[in-house]
Amino acid sequence: MERGHLVVATRIPDAVVERLRAHADVTDVSDRPRDEWPGPLATALGVLVSSNIPIDAAFLDAAPQLRIVATWSVGYDNVDVAALAARGIILTNTSGSLVEAVADLTYALVIFAVRNLAAGLSYVRSGRWMHEQMPFGHDLEGSTLGIVGFGQIGLAVAKRAQVSGMRVVYTNRNPRADDAATGASYRPFDALLAEADCIVLLVPLTDETRGMFGDDTFARMKPAATLVNVARGAVVDTDALLRALEQKKIAGAALDVTDPEPFPPDHPLALHENVVIVPHVGSATVETRARMAMLAAENLIAFVEGRTVPTPVLAGRD
Ligand code: DGY
Repeated sequence: MERGHLVVATRIPDAVVERLRAHADVTDVSDRPRDEWPGPLATALGVLVSSNIPIDAAFLDAAPQLRIVATWSVGYDNVDVAALAARGIILTNTSGSLVEAVADLTYALVIFAVRNLAAGLSYVRSGRWMHEQMPFGHDLEGSTLGIVGFGQIGLAVAKRAQVSGMRVVYTNRNPRADDAATGASYRPFDALLAEADCIVLLVPLTDETRGMFGDDTFARMKPAATLVNVARGAVVDTDALLRALEQKKIAGAALDVTDPEPFPPDHPLALHENVVIVPHVGSATVETRARMAMLAAENLIAFVEGRTVPTPVLAGRD
């Protein structure tokens, strides 16, 4: 039987590329400039990509034989899902593979934000510590964490926050049925904004959530509240966040994701004393990223072998 041709467009562990090579012909273009991709893509049956590679009509036009896109991420807002659906192309993600790692990073950012540790770093680096006391942060115990988008990761963050004595409220499209078991309570969005001392964003980026946190939203938060974004940068209006901080509508922010990415180091938000930004590393541990890469590869291998793909987002067309 003829082996299928797969293109790996993002740097994944060698062992995962080797696993793919056992099942298909593989071209690894991850180290090549993007204008060199169309050659290999012309015969690709499947492609392994990551969330920073736009999978749009231009990409698909370069890959006329493409039947499956496996993204090395849970989020797939980089993918034009309608364009894939129109061409009958399967989309898979790495659902379920990164919950604990992202929850750990989120919780670290919650502590950073609530304890005002961004200012702490700045006091040490600038030498202000020599002659000035940095403004104190707040206790986690007894404060309220508001989680926007309460799925698997939200639950894992809630458990960690509850160990520190935080009350957890959440907002979702609908209340969950298991509030008694999770110890977290549903709030309508407006009520959560008014009540939370720290708000964590965990929603996917969609037309509905793009710019969800803007001037109007920040105006409804507590002035001492902090924002933690581990969702996607564009859920927050960057300029509005900067205004909210400068006008003291909120007290601080801790961001794993930004708009744009990478974020310019000289942007006033990156330089703001009450802001910490890390470079989209929620799932970036050796173990979790390897597990995610293997799951993306298993989706491609299942497809090549005619089996059901393990974590589909979009079914293809036979
Ligand atoms: C994800 O898996 O969506 C992470 O944010 C990495 O892109």
